[in-house]
Amino acid sequence: MGRVQSKLQTYGRMVRSGDVKPIASDASRWGWSANVAYGMCRDLTVPFSPSPAKIEFTIEPLDASLAPAVFSLEGLDAEGRRELANRRRMWEEGLPTAYVAIDLAGNPCYFQWALSGVHDEWVHEFFGGGFPRLAADELLLEGAWGLPAARGQRIMGEAMSRITEMGAGADHRRAITFVGVDNEPSLRGCRTAGFEVYIERHESWRLGRRQLRWAPPATPASS
Ligand SMILES: CC(C)(COP(=O)(O)OP(=O)(O)OC[C@H]1O[C@@H](n2cnc3c(N)ncnc32)[C@H](O)[C@@H]1OP(=O)(O)O)[C@@H](O)C(=O)NCCC(=O)NCCS
Repeated sequence: MGRVQSKLQTYGRMVRSGDVKPIASDASRWGWSANVAYGMCRDLTVPFSPSPAKIEFTIEPLDASLAPAVFSLEGLDAEGRRELANRRRMWEEGLPTAYVAIDLAGNPCYFQWALSGVHDEWVHEFFGGGFPRLAADELLLEGAWGLPAARGQRIMGEAMSRITEMGAGADHRRAITFVGVDNEPSLRGCRTAGFEVYIERHESWRLGRRQLRWAPPATPASS
């Protein structure tokens, strides 16, 4: 499905359920906004062990039986619903592969995509060029989401590290991910998963036109 078509389908679903606030939030972002994200990378040729989460969990590929629980909108504010709708679009697009951390009671607690550079063209098209082009042996970690009931248990770092390694197999030498500079929980989780800042992405929207600029990081990579 094309990028615009998939957005329209998501908006249609929101309108039918009477939930238009996330659409307003998208519209204001497209109208006039600017944001900066850190690009972070991990060298997959170097062994790495994250510090463990507070709970035990397994990692499974996301499938149709897990989807209703992971895309539950319960208890989310408009911004959370907008963010989760974007992840659901990735799922509906079939982008390979999303992985879910599942606690020992069977509850999904975290999910994220590990997107291989083998699918670079697809990834580039779906995200409108929002990430650097991927070589076949590079992996993009995207769409991290902690289920609200499971947050605060330091799941992200260990789960992201394990998802990176599952997605990478033996064929990928480097993983990258992008995080808003003010998203402290995610930045910390990425660092715990072995990722360090290597680039900045400056994005601006002016009446629906997007501009991207890439720059060396202004802060030390290990801060
Ligand atoms: C990002 C997200 C997955 C992190 O999950 P979480 O359960 O909140 O985080 P964790 O318990 O694994 O903690 C990660 C780190 O953030 C810290 N942290 C958690 N909440 C925090 C907050 N509100 N402010 C600052 N730090 C915070 C934790 O102390 C931990 O740091 P440490 O490992 O140095 O101790 C979750 O907040 C989320 O889904 N947010 C919405 C979607 C999102 O932002 N995705 C990432 C897009 S790049």
